[in-house]
Amino acid sequence: MKRFNVTLVGGGSTWTPGLLQSLCKLKDRFPMKKLVLFDIDEKRQRPIGEAAKILFKEQYEELEFHYTTKSEEAYKDVDFVFMQMRTGGLKMREKDEKVPLSMGLLGQETCGPGGFAYGLRSIKDMIKTINDIRKYSKKAWILNYTNPAAIVAEALRREFPEDKRVLNICDQPVNLLRSYGRLLEMDSKEFEPVYFGLNHFGWFTHLYDKEGTDLLPKIKKLVVEKGFQPADAEQRDKSWLYTYGVVKNMVEDFPDYLPNTYLQYYLYPKEKVQHLDPKYTRANEVMDGRETRIFEECEKIIEKGTAEGSSFVHNDAHSEFMIEVAESIAYNKQKMYIVIVENNGTISNIQDDAMVEVAAVMTSNGPRPLSVGKIPTFYKGLMEGQLAYEKLTVDAYYEKSYQKALQALTLNRTVVSAKEARKVLDALIEVNKDYWPEFK
Ligand code: NAD
Ligand code: G6P
Ligand code: MN
Repeated sequence: MKRFNVTLVGGGSTWTPGLLQSLCKLKDRFPMKKLVLFDIDEKRQRPIGEAAKILFKEQYEELEFHYTTKSEEAYKDVDFVFMQMRTGGLKMREKDEKVPLSMGLLGQETCGPGGFAYGLRSIKDMIKTINDIRKYSKKAWILNYTNPAAIVAEALRREFPEDKRVLNICDQPVNLLRSYGRLLEMDSKEFEPVYFGLNHFGWFTHLYDKEGTDLLPKIKKLVVEKGFQPADAEQRDKSWLYTYGVVKNMVEDFPDYLPNTYLQYYLYPKEKVQHLDPKYTRANEVMDGRETRIFEECEKIIEKGTAEGSSFVHNDAHSEFMIEVAESIAYNKQKMYIVIVENNGTISNIQDDAMVEVAAVMTSNGPRPLSVGKIPTFYKGLMEGQLAYEKLTVDAYYEKSYQKALQALTLNRTVVSAKEARKVLDALIEVNKDYWPEFK
C-alpha cells in the first residue's frame, strides 16, 4: 500500500489535535510516510507539535514527523496538503462577530458582514500559500477547509483556473448526515445524499438508504416532532445546540428539503441578531472553550511525556471527512462526498462559473459531480442573490473597489439596507486595515 507525504497548513489550529488523533485511528486506510505541521505562529505550533511527537511515538511509530514555520521545509515533496488556517486568528473572528452585532446586524464567522470581512482577509494568504506549495510540489492535492469556503473557492477558481488539484471542502454536510443517522438510529455511512447549494447555503433534496428508499420524508417528520440535535450533541457548546434546534423552524416554514443549519442566518436574520449576545460571541466561546482546552491538553501531554489516557474533545466528522476524501483520491475509491466544485451544468439552471456544493464521486482524477438538474424558483432565487454577493466580494478584492464591496453587502440577505451596508462596511474597513486591500 502506497504511503503518503502530508503537510498540514494551520498546524496550530484548534482542530489540529483532533485531526492528528484521527490520522492515527485511520492509519490503515490512509497511511502516511511523513507528516509536517506548518504554521506561521511558532507559539501555537510548538506545543501542538511537541505533543504530536509524543502521540506519534506511541501510536504511529513508522511516521516521520516534524513541525516547522518555514515554507520550504513544509512543501517539498508532498502528496497531500490539508489546510485549515485563519488569517487574523480568533481575535479577528471576534471583531467579525461584534462589529456588525453592535449595529444590530448579523455577526457570524462565515455569514453576512462577518463572513465578508473574513473572506477579504483569507484570499491573500490562501493565494500566497498555494503559490508557495506549487513552488515545491506541483502535483500535490490541496484539500482546503479554510473559511469562508465559498469566498475562498471563488477567489481560487479565478486565481488558479488550470489547477485542478485544489479542492475546497466543508464538514457541515457530514455533520448533518451523522446527525440524521443519530435521529434514525442508522449508520450515516449507508446514506446516499442528493444535495445542492453554495457553501453554508444548501439543501438535502433526497437521502437514500441502501435499498434506494428516500429517508428524507421520515427525517423531516422526526425533526418536526422531536427537534434536531448534532450527532455529537454531548460534546457541543450550547450555541451549537441552539443552532441545530432552529432547523425545526426551517423545516416547518419550508418543508421541501432539509436545510443546512447555516441557512437560518439568511432566513431569520433579525431573530438571530436578537438571540446573539454582542458582548460574548461564538469566538469568545471558542477561545474560552476549545482553544483553551486543547493547549492545556498539549501541555499535559508534554509534562507527562505520554499521550496515553489523554483525549482531545474533538469532532470526528471534521477530521475523518478530510482524511476520507484524501483516501478516496489516493486509492481511487470513487466514494461519494459533498464538496465544492465549479458548477458547469451540475445544477442546470445556475450559471456555469458558480462554485457550488454538491455530491461528487471522488476519484484519483478529482471530483466527478453528480447531476442535480433544475432547482425550483425559491431556491434558485436565494442562491443567485447569495452567489452575486460572493462574486462581488471577490470582485471587490481584485478591483480594490469600495463600490463592489458596498454592492456585495447590500445584496446580502442579512443586511439589505444600503445605508446599513455602508455603515458596517466603513466600520469593518477601519478594523481590517492591516489585512484588506485598500479600497478606492
Ligand atoms: P485558529 O485561529 O485556532 O487556527 C488557525 C491557525 O492558522 C493558527 O494557528 C494560525 O496561526 C494559523 N495561520 C494563520 N495564518 C496562516 C498562514 N498564512 N499560514 C499558515 N498558518 C496560518 O482557527 P480554528 O478555529 O482552528 O479554525 C481553522 C480554520 O479552519 C478556519 O479557517 C476555520 O474557519 C476553518 N474550518 C473550516 C471548516 C469547514 O467546514 N470548511 C470546519 C472547521 C474549521
Ligand atoms: C462548522 C462549519 C465550519 C465552521 C465551524 C465553526 O463545522 O462547517 O465551516 O468553521 O462550524 O465551528 P466553531 O466551533 O469554530 O464555531
Ligand atoms: Mn463549513
